[in-house]
Amino acid sequence: MAEHAEHARALYWVGGLDGHVAMIDQTLLPGEFVEMRIDDVETVFDAIRRLAVRGAPAIGVAAGMGVVLGVRDWSGDDRDGFVARVEQVCDYLATSRPTAVNLFWALDRMKRVARASVELSVLDMKERLLAEAIAIHHEDEAMCRSIGDVGEHVIPEGGTVLTHCNAGALATGGMGTALAVMYRAHELGRSFGVYADETRPLLQGARLTTWELMRAGIDVTLICDNTAAHAMKVGRIDLVITGADRIAANGDAANKIGTYGVALLAAAHDVPFYVAAPSSTFDMALACGDEIPIEERSADEVRRGFGTLTSPEDVKCYCPAFDVTPARLIKGIITERGMIEPVTADAVSAVLGDLAGAVN
Ligand code: MRU
Repeated sequence: MAEHAEHARALYWVGGLDGHVAMIDQTLLPGEFVEMRIDDVETVFDAIRRLAVRGAPAIGVAAGMGVVLGVRDWSGDDRDGFVARVEQVCDYLATSRPTAVNLFWALDRMKRVARASVELSVLDMKERLLAEAIAIHHEDEAMCRSIGDVGEHVIPEGGTVLTHCNAGALATGGMGTALAVMYRAHELGRSFGVYADETRPLLQGARLTTWELMRAGIDVTLICDNTAAHAMKVGRIDLVITGADRIAANGDAANKIGTYGVALLAAAHDVPFYVAAPSSTFDMALACGDEIPIEERSADEVRRGFGTLTSPEDVKCYCPAFDVTPARLIKGIITERGMIEPVTADAVSAVLGDLAGAVN
């Protein structure tokens, strides 16, 4: 049995209502480990937008805490006015990034708590909101662990898993989603390897996934994104596990740009492709993946990544940050409630059908 790993904590709340958010600045990893102290909602917004905190569940946790920071200094005892302020802060945070549904799911929870506690004093409403933000964090931590338990069996002894982007502790409030499956298999003493796609353009695989897995003592090999096809062809990959940013009711799953390509490669080489995600990543209001909003990011993340110009400086770029893998390419979705396999609308509904239809 391997040691129970100490996972990095992407962010956490420190203290009471007058406390703050401690958050790793992931843009600096792996070179520097800097934990920022955040006291205001604008800095949370900025951290989400510039990917200091990233990964769908971690964005949701950050949003909940951001709401607390954004409303705690509101003065007066007009409770309806306070609810209006909560809604205003939620609307603001909702514009930070569009694809990860966990953001809207968490903001929806915060709004509902505010509306439901309108009979309380404003101070008590603030305390309720803090409790909800911390609950969102703790629930995510528990969901990650359950995802690990549900999914660990898919990794065979001596096998090699390919992953894309970072769906680890850094991306969640706990031990990750795709990486939770690996951490759990490792805890159980299974021996296996991981290939990490570097994940252009922001290199979450190279910078974050390798860093996490090496710290945990898991055998990891970094590959360029364009090596995945060859690695599969020569038999180096037994299965793929990725995370997701939003999953539609039929199981179509949005994740980091390049994931769809990996899924197509996996199908072509008869390699099983799994997605690991908590129920908070499902958007049951969307019938299929075509309806998922896809973030487009700045051309300079491609042209001059990490400050080095690697193309003509004014070349046109097309920069979607996510793509959608159709359900037919996904062997199973590993959730905290169990495995969804085969991935069909009926199977999704059987596991998650009780979830509310719409977020926000
Ligand atoms: O742009 P990012 O780094 O936020 O993208 C993250 C991903 O695509 C992750 O795979 C996804 O959010 C799942 S994290 C558990």
